[in-house]
Amino acid sequence: MSFQQFEIQEIDQTVMLWLDELRTQTITAMNQQLDVDVKSDASDLVTNVDRNNERIIVEKIRSFDAGAVIVSEEGYGDRPTNMAGHVWFVDPIDGTMNFVKQREDFAIMIALYVDGEPILGWILDVMGNVVYHGGPQIGVYSNQLRMTNPVDTQLENGIILLSGKRLLYNMFGYDTIAKHALGYRVIGAAGPSFIRVIRGQSVGYSSKMMPWDFAAGNVLARTLDLLVTNLDGSPLDMLKSNVVLVATHQTHRKIMTLRKS
Ligand code: IPD
Ligand code: CA
Ligand code: CA
Ligand code: CA
Repeated sequence: MSFQQFEIQEIDQTVMLWLDELRTQTITAMNQQLDVDVKSDASDLVTNVDRNNERIIVEKIRSFDAGAVIVSEEGYGDRPTNMAGHVWFVDPIDGTMNFVKQREDFAIMIALYVDGEPILGWILDVMGNVVYHGGPQIGVYSNQLRMTNPVDTQLENGIILLSGKRLLYNMFGYDTIAKHALGYRVIGAAGPSFIRVIRGQSVGYSSKMMPWDFAAGNVLARTLDLLVTNLDGSPLDMLKSNVVLVATHQTHRKIMTLRKS
């Protein structure tokens, strides 16, 4: 299915309005008593805001795009077995621990794929009040400003972002990757990490993630000529967890070489 450019722009602007409302509601709720629950382990948190945001976004998608399929984290969506048709991805609060404990470096993320093709992605940096949005047909914007492709910087000249837990336990060769970088950082949330890579502040980011964690970042990063693959170089599977690597071309090449050596 192909869209006219104005149709893509209309979808983009509609979701921007949703995100504007959600930002206000999220900040208001954050300043009241949060209801925090634990999921699979003590560090896997969910709050009333995660649930409420997801319920609102899913309702908005269902009335805007009837018949679409929704893949979301907190259970209000569907469980598709393929990527046919319109598939929306929703992460209602990405970086819930940052949201609860740091009160910054968390995001609201939405993405639209059609027949498996990335169409549009939105990452709202809630406290920074910036939406990173766009896709291959319209380019990528930071609020209203068109973004340019980040400089193709090599791993040893830049900062790599990694998942803290996996780095701590030397999983996926993250210790080797970190040692070859100029520096490494742990941000603790996928969306804010993708933002740093698309802004050229980091040369790459890797973590094991679910589709709602990487769907929006994948659209934006690919549009800005970054590479987004599994850590072994294979294409992402949009329906299961992946060990995702987003990186500049030079950094991606270097990481592929390090993994073989
Ligand atoms: C998590 C964060 C974290 C990443 C996890 C995600 P959530 O998202 O983005 O940085 O390492 O894989 O699940 O659960 O806070 O939305
Ligand atoms: Ca979660
Ligand atoms: Ca997430
Ligand atoms: Ca989440």
